[in-house]
Amino acid sequence: MKALDLFSLLKRSDSSNALQDATILNLIEYCFHIPKAKVFSNSDVSPNTKELDRVVYLLRERVPFAYITGRESFYGREFFITPGVFIPRNETEILVEEALKAPFEKVLDYGSGSGAICVTLLLENDKSTATAVEISHVGCLCTYSNAEKFNVSNRLTLLTSLPDKGIFDLIVSNPPYVDFKSLQNVDESVKLFEPMQAVFHENPTSVYNDLLIYGKEHLSKHGRIVFEIDDDLTPQIVDLALSLGFDCSLTRDFSNLNRIAVITPRSFT
Ligand SMILES: C[S@@+](CC[C@H](N)C(=O)[O-])C[C@H]1O[C@@H](n2cnc3c(N)ncnc32)[C@H](O)[C@@H]1O
Repeated sequence: MKALDLFSLLKRSDSSNALQDATILNLIEYCFHIPKAKVFSNSDVSPNTKELDRVVYLLRERVPFAYITGRESFYGREFFITPGVFIPRNETEILVEEALKAPFEKVLDYGSGSGAICVTLLLENDKSTATAVEISHVGCLCTYSNAEKFNVSNRLTLLTSLPDKGIFDLIVSNPPYVDFKSLQNVDESVKLFEPMQAVFHENPTSVYNDLLIYGKEHLSKHGRIVFEIDDDLTPQIVDLALSLGFDCSLTRDFSNLNRIAVITPRSFT
């Protein structure tokens, strides 16, 4: 078939109508190993027919691009992604940027999912070690696969609950922070395809509260806690941090919403 016919077929199959042309080109490259140049020159191509059926079916079902290709870019690197694991978002790169603003050695990442945060921090700071906590088995597998992919698994400990022991210089988390009550405001494809326990919580404030209480015991003297938050939760999180003896500063995302909270023990700021 002609490469442009393949391109048009995939474009028509995308029932979400959300994929840009550049994304369709990436899809062709990732799934069929056909270089973009072949599409631009409308060369003859022979995509694997089983793979073509799979991709067309998934596009019709509005399955997110990352689950079709098995990858997502985060902080300039391609992470392995599988259905059942939360797809890392651009906003979370701001969390990484904030986390990297001060020195650290021991990191704790609560809710590691794909491992996007902890693996990136390990790669950006080769003196660091990380403990990743992830409740989902698929999430654990994905964190570990990405740590292996990027050769940092020797500096990573993977757990399914918070460790009783250990002092950390940096506690990071992008926890499930969407209240179940806001279900109707959430994008349909998130509700249909992303793991519920990665996105929703019946009481998101309690997750931050528990992590801050954990931080009281497990944060080093000059340590920092960096959370991704929902803008709506800002007052509650600032109040929680202040009432527990921390200071809290906020960073906004690309939509000018509060997205990252950096929390430090009050006596050391
Ligand atoms: C919003 S996702 C974040 C994933 C990844 N850190 C990122 O930023 O892309 C939240 C993650 O927390 C995990 N999670 C939910 N409840 C948890 C719990 N009680 N203990 C540990 N992990 C949990 C979910 O499985 C999911 O992987």
